[in-house]
Amino acid sequence: MNGPESEEPQLRRAVCPGSFDPVTNGHLDIIARASKLYDVVHVAVMINQSKQGLFTVEERIDLLRQVTAEYGNVEVESFHGLLVDFCKQRDIPAIVKGLRAVSDFDYELQMAQMNNGLSGVETLFVPTNPTYSFLSSSLVKEVAAWGGDVSHLVPPLVLEALNERLRRD
Ligand code: PNS
Repeated sequence: MNGPESEEPQLRRAVCPGSFDPVTNGHLDIIARASKLYDVVHVAVMINQSKQGLFTVEERIDLLRQVTAEYGNVEVESFHGLLVDFCKQRDIPAIVKGLRAVSDFDYELQMAQMNNGLSGVETLFVPTNPTYSFLSSSLVKEVAAWGGDVSHLVPPLVLEALNERLRRD
């Protein structure tokens, strides 16, 4: 059948990109909120070969898949390249980013403008839950490495993985 009636409804897609080394409750808050606004949320673990991670990309993906499974509309994968190319290949018109504080804004604005100039993709900023406004994967790793309690900052599965990794290394 031809005509507009036969057209599949277009799924509204967005991407939440990041390093996710490892995923924190702050990331999860943004992903969960994006999953209520969009039909499909793509979580893109962007590969940065110049950055040595605590977790491999496969481990990060595995943790992300497990902690986002309950949302039902989140797809997790890795990507090596420009975020705008990830978006182009999957027909994703929007990037969703959390803003923790004004200090995030400068760099996030630059990236948003660069990405929009490169391909027209839009960036939507979501203010983080104030509970997580100080939270980053780097701080979680540092505090955990020195034996500090991060159990309120990451999902239980991630806490387990952190304890195991830091005990072994
Ligand atoms: O979790 P992070 O490390 O703060 O995430 C930064 C990330 C991965 C989203 C950003 O560095 C990125 O988009 N990298 C992909 C490469 C790219 O598109 N660079 C140009 C950005 S304007």
